[in-house]
Amino acid sequence: MTQAFASRPLVIAPSILASDFAKLSDEVRAVDRAGADWMHLDVMDGHFVPNISFGPDVIKAMRPHSKKIFDAHLMIAPCDPYLEAFAKAGCDHITVHVEAGPHLHRSLQAIRALGKKAGVSLNPATPASAIEHVIDLVDLVLVMSVNPGFGGQSFISSALEKISNVRAMCAGRPIDIEVDGGVTANNAAEITAAGANALVAGSAVFKGGTMESYKSNIAAIRNAAASARGEAI
Ligand code: DX5
Ligand code: ZN
Repeated sequence: MTQAFASRPLVIAPSILASDFAKLSDEVRAVDRAGADWMHLDVMDGHFVPNISFGPDVIKAMRPHSKKIFDAHLMIAPCDPYLEAFAKAGCDHITVHVEAGPHLHRSLQAIRALGKKAGVSLNPATPASAIEHVIDLVDLVLVMSVNPGFGGQSFISSALEKISNVRAMCAGRPIDIEVDGGVTANNAAEITAAGANALVAGSAVFKGGTMESYKSNIAAIRNAAASARGEAI
C-alpha cells in the first residue's frame, strides 16, 4: 500500500436502492455474501430530491440480515426530526446533506450524540469549501457524483477535482471519503486515485441479479480501486 492511502481502508458499498425491493432480505444477504463492506442506504423524501425510497422501518427490517456497516445517506429535509429514528433502526453511519440545512452543526452534533458516525454530503454543484466549517464534526464526507434522486445516472467528472479538494481538507483526520453516483469498474481507479476510499455503487453491483454476479461485479470494482492504491489484488 502506498503511503498516500495508508490511513483509510478501501470500502465497496453497494447501494440497496438498485436491489429488488420485492425480496429485500434476500438481496441484503446476497450482497453481504458477495463481498460488500458497507450497505449504502439511500433515503429519499420526494422533497429534497424528486424521488421517494424507504425510511427507518424498512431499514430496521433489513438490519437482522447483515452484520455489515449500515451507511445511511439521508436525502431528506428537514433531517433533524428523524435522526433518532435512523439511529434506532440500526444505522451505523448517518450522512446528511450540507444543502438540507439550515443548522448543519446541530445535525452533525446530534448524530454523534446518538453514538453514530456523522457524515456530510455535497451535491455536484456545491463546492468543497461548503464543509470547511464542519470538518472537525464529521467522520465521513460523501461527494455526490450525480445529482441525487435516482440510480443509474452517469458520473459527473468534475467530482474528481472535488474529491482531491476534500482529501486535502481532511489531511491528518480520520475521515472516510465516499463517492456516490455512476461508479463502475471503469472509473473506480481514477476516483480512488483522486483520494476517495469508499465507493458506492448501485447499478454496477446489482446488474445480473444473482449472488454470483454481485460477487464478480464487486470484485471488478474492488480490483480496479485496489490497483490504483498500489495494493496487491
Ligand atoms: C443517488 C443515490 C445513489 C445511487 C447510486 O441519489 O445516492 O446511492 O443509488 O446508484 P448508481 O451507482 O446506479 O449511480
Ligand atoms: Zn447514496
